[in-house]
Amino acid sequence: MAHDILGYGGKRCVVMGCFSGTGEALVRHLVALGAEVHGADIKPSPVNLASFTTVDLKDPASIAAGIESIGGEIDALFNVSGLPQTFPGEDVVSVNFLGIRAWTEAWLPKIREGGAIVTVSSLAGAGYLTNQPLLREFMALTDPAEARAWYTVNKQRAGDPYTLSKQAINTWTQLSAPGLMERNIRINCTMPSPIDTPMLKDFKQAAGEAVINAFAKAKGRFSTAEEQALPLILLNSKAANFISGVCLAVDAGLSAGLATGVLDLQKMIAEASAA
Ligand SMILES: NC(=O)c1ccc[n+]([C@@H]2O[C@H](COP(=O)([O-])OP(=O)(O)OC[C@H]3O[C@@H](n4cnc5c(N)ncnc54)[C@H](O)[C@@H]3O)[C@@H](O)[C@H]2O)c1
Repeated sequence: MAHDILGYGGKRCVVMGCFSGTGEALVRHLVALGAEVHGADIKPSPVNLASFTTVDLKDPASIAAGIESIGGEIDALFNVSGLPQTFPGEDVVSVNFLGIRAWTEAWLPKIREGGAIVTVSSLAGAGYLTNQPLLREFMALTDPAEARAWYTVNKQRAGDPYTLSKQAINTWTQLSAPGLMERNIRINCTMPSPIDTPMLKDFKQAAGEAVINAFAKAKGRFSTAEEQALPLILLNSKAANFISGVCLAVDAGLSAGLATGVLDLQKMIAEASAA
């Protein structure tokens, strides 16, 4: 018998965001690991799954209908969907945080004991601990329409909607972990550096090519979708049974280098601009 340290065989998994990039790579691996994979996204999955349901995270009614349509209890929830800041700010905060939170919280009563949740955040959200007063004000609004309206009114001080939404995911993940552990459910998130997926061109457009290229410095290239999908599989697996409330940087040492001063962002940007 194989030494199955991940334990996905026969597990009922739901993946939000399986159309492209990281989510597509993720569902391919989960299917190969023997999981029963139910996908959801605003666009259809290219992979043959146990089921696919169209869900628009901007729309609370679509979220409720999606959960109803998939039905039943689940073991693992993977939240991969996201929008870059080239989209309207209201849509970015709605998909990346408000929609993901509403969708996850609606799933909670149906997540089995021993289950797990993982969300793709971003290195863009790494500064969440320094922005708590504003984040808590935004996150206190549990009605997605009200929170969306808060963003419109507070756009100036809220800053970049992508950063805000990913900081909110990190904060929400850590706030949720102790209470969920009482039900033996784990919750974590990952903070990728730039990934070579369809979204990368939007980040280059928003931040400038040199800035984004500088982030490839740690390993000399961007991560692949698969290199971001596999840590999600690890965090929701039985191999991570004692890991909860973690915001895991998946960045080949980039944030470690920046935090310690071993890597100098300004120098990296200057080098990337000159290249
Ligand atoms: N690409 C990068 O450089 C990068 C870096 C850090 C973090 N991320 C994060 O990684 C995650 C996956 O992105 P990716 O890089 O694989 O890009 P991607 O564009 O391939 O994937 C994004 C997915 O989100 C889905 N989506 C968009 N709007 C939606 C909506 N309204 N409702 C439901 N689903 C919706 C898309 O259809 C797509 O499947 C995102 O959360 C993103 O913020 C990406």
